[in-house]
Amino acid sequence: MKVLVVGGGGREHALCWKIGQSPLVKSVYCAPGNAGISRHAECVDIGVTDFDSLARFVKEKSVDLTVVGPEQPLCEGITDFFEKEGLLVFGPSKAAAELEGSKIFSKNLMKKYGIPTGEYFVFSDMGQALAKTAEMEPPFVVKADGLAAGKGVIICRSREEGEDAVRSMMEQAAFGQAGTKVVIEEFLTGEEASFFAFTDGKNILPLEPSQDHKPIFDGDRGPNTGGMGAYAPAPLVTDELRLRIIDEVMIPTVRAMKSEGRTYRGILYAGLMIKDKSFKVLEFNCRFGDPEAQPLLMRMESDIVPVLYSISREEMNTDPLQWKDGFCVCVVMASDGYPGNYDKGVELKKAGDFEDTAETVVFHAGTAFSRDRLITSGGRVLGVTSLGATIEESISRAYRAVDSGSEQCLIYRTDIGKKALQEFKK
Ligand code: AMP
Ligand code: GLY
Repeated sequence: MKVLVVGGGGREHALCWKIGQSPLVKSVYCAPGNAGISRHAECVDIGVTDFDSLARFVKEKSVDLTVVGPEQPLCEGITDFFEKEGLLVFGPSKAAAELEGSKIFSKNLMKKYGIPTGEYFVFSDMGQALAKTAEMEPPFVVKADGLAAGKGVIICRSREEGEDAVRSMMEQAAFGQAGTKVVIEEFLTGEEASFFAFTDGKNILPLEPSQDHKPIFDGDRGPNTGGMGAYAPAPLVTDELRLRIIDEVMIPTVRAMKSEGRTYRGILYAGLMIKDKSFKVLEFNCRFGDPEAQPLLMRMESDIVPVLYSISREEMNTDPLQWKDGFCVCVVMASDGYPGNYDKGVELKKAGDFEDTAETVVFHAGTAFSRDRLITSGGRVLGVTSLGATIEESISRAYRAVDSGSEQCLIYRTDIGKKALQEFKK
């Protein structure tokens, strides 16, 4: 069969890499893709929200299945558009993707169906939101309701910061329409984990627990990013917790969405805060995590294509997924300056020469070709991803590859995976 992956980041590179290994697949296309993806798929220069051109391409090439990576096209209704055209697509409908597209929808759903989450208040009036910040005990969290490219969550350490956050969203429209309504939420402490499950709207097929590293600097310091590294499986999520997350979060959410008339088909991503064997949902996303997808897909033994295909046809097989032994760690190398301002178009001297091995794959995110030169084209640039029999082995293997490919223009954290080591010592 022929598969089109929509997107052009590290997550989509890992999806193309994994999908291309399926004996069922003859060709993989990626729109728009990136320089690294062109090693594993034929890249086509179509933007992720240009639904007309994407559907035309799918028809021209007789593509059998389209797999959507990022949230933006899902929240804008790519699935509804493709289904109307009679095309098979993996990813939730616009109404179901509201779970990520509106924090207010998602918090209200959790409250209505008793899914554990932090206390919160919803505002569409700035005066009332400001009055709330004056009452809240810091720290607390201000969130833009809509999609804000991962930047719409502000942790406020004082009431003044809370007021600034509300004004930036509701008065200065820092996130455009996304910030016309806000959620003010209690600050939760603990360790974060990412939990994913495939679902056809009725049943779920859980993946392994994983952990992202959001802040830019070692020791979880500095501003949040899209994710500076990830590993799987995450020992923080014990077998007992895993079963409870399935029973108390994943299954109830899929059922709740069905009851609301918004049947959710695709991959459901729960961002969790875990503390003292209890957990609360920080957010839901309607897609794979980036960079969590990189280690998860490298460790996945099962063929992913039958899972994606069957969900798009509403008939998922619930045989458990098979995983390789050991661990996998992904270290993200980002442009110097990210998540603030950074230069694009900087030449990468070594990344182009990296030869993937059975244990290490360098997934590309913000890379492009300029004539024959490999250059940076985004904040997160590479995701060096290594398997190992132990967490130590996967960490040292990934960092050996990072060191051998280090470039002046790229920065990275040196402590990815350390939290897993600490869990084992407990
Ligand atoms: P979200 O997009 O809602 O997951 O938020 C992005 C990040 O902000 C999360 O991964 C957490 O690190 C942090 N965050 C969000 N909500 C809270 C909260 N209620 N308490 C503490 N940290 C939070
Ligand atoms: N790794 C965080 C995200 O994909 O949203």
